[in-house]
Amino acid sequence: MSLVEVKNVRKVYRVGKEKIVALNHVTLSIEQGEICCILGTSGSGKSTLLNVMAGLERPTKGDILIGGVNIAKLSEKQLALFRQKNVGFVFQSYNLMPTQTAIENVAMPLMFRGVSKKIRTKEAIKMLKAVQLQKRMHHKPTQMSGGQQQRVGIARAFVAKPKIVFADEPTGNLDTHTTKDVMEIMVKMARKYHETLIIVTHDPEIAEYADRIVTLIDGDVRSDQKNISILPAEGEEPPQPQQSEQPQREPTSEAGGNKT
Ligand SMILES: Nc1ncnc2c1ncn2[C@@H]1O[C@H](COP(=O)(O)OP(=O)(O)OP(=O)(O)O)[C@@H](O)[C@H]1O
Ligand SMILES: [Mg+2]
Repeated sequence: MSLVEVKNVRKVYRVGKEKIVALNHVTLSIEQGEICCILGTSGSGKSTLLNVMAGLERPTKGDILIGGVNIAKLSEKQLALFRQKNVGFVFQSYNLMPTQTAIENVAMPLMFRGVSKKIRTKEAIKMLKAVQLQKRMHHKPTQMSGGQQQRVGIARAFVAKPKIVFADEPTGNLDTHTTKDVMEIMVKMARKYHETLIIVTHDPEIAEYADRIVTLIDGDVRSDQKNISILPAEGEEPPQPQQSEQPQREPTSEAGGNKT
């Protein structure tokens, strides 16, 4: 069984008397450790699909199984617990707590899991080092650049080692250079911990970072193709190109460079 199974999912919004079909009839499976990109133009249903997979919204019809549990059938309370235990998020606008330092922001998901302050501070520091922010640990979000804030966001998403990290337009507010840093760090994290990463974007260049690209058009899956990943896990051989796919990029050992 796949880690994520989306089965015949439909999502219809009602606005007054109007019905908006955000997801028409979506079926797809995503494996543990897979980096999957949901690609599509504005309004194609990407965020809606991400939100139903993450248990933030309920489908109108259909089932979403995560590790065999049908989250479409859970109560609100069960869903909140499910998200706390299984899911990490990276947001376009970072969504960091403005009054808290980088360490406190990263430690937050561990606090919800009841981890002691000592351990969560230790883990947060470890994660901030992994995203090369050792020199910004005690800074608050307003004291950091967009790229640095998003690296804090990534550290926070991965700190509790969730089963799945969801990222909706994670580089939407960043310039091209910073986008590359942030994507490489996020992919490196997912590979390191063998975690499933689901990235929503309208940008085909971002999709290049994924193992697999699912293209949505008007709430339906138009294509579902394998891609060549760029960042193999440490000690692993880079995947071999498959026939009729794009040329492989240079594997990078140092993700992101030191921008601190
Ligand atoms: N809460 C809502 N109420 C009504 N309609 C909605 C709601 N959320 C989304 N929609 C509609 O559903 C469709 C899909 O929206 P969605 O946000 O999933 O698109 P998207 O692919 O993420 O677009 P973008 O790239 O602009 O973020 C759109 O037509 C949108 O207007
Ligand atoms: Mg969206």
